[in-house]
Amino acid sequence: MTIPLRQVLVCQYRNCMARGAAELLDQWQARSVPENVQVEASGCLGQCNLGPSMQILPDQVWYCEVKPQHIEQIIEQHLRNNQPVSSLLNPRFHFDWSRLQES
Ligand code: FES
Repeated sequence: MTIPLRQVLVCQYRNCMARGAAELLDQWQARSVPENVQVEASGCLGQCNLGPSMQILPDQVWYCEVKPQHIEQIIEQHLRNNQPVSSLLNPRFHFDWSRLQES
């Protein structure tokens, strides 16, 4: 059985680079990820003021303001256990309506 490929896209364009995206990609590439996962540099993901930005495909999960210290949690929680890390979700794509009701 073929395991579907997952891509972890890490933006390497201007605004994200100014916020540490190069180190983030380096740290991703130094980690052990599940065998069906490919970590790749990407161009601008259109989320420049929330960088460093990442997208995981085909899941269509967008992460924002990702730092190297978040990588292990994304690997364990999302890539190994299929539970996106809610605290890092980009609110433009993953709006949490429950927060609106709290305020
Ligand atoms: S520069 Fe990274 S999303 Fe645009």
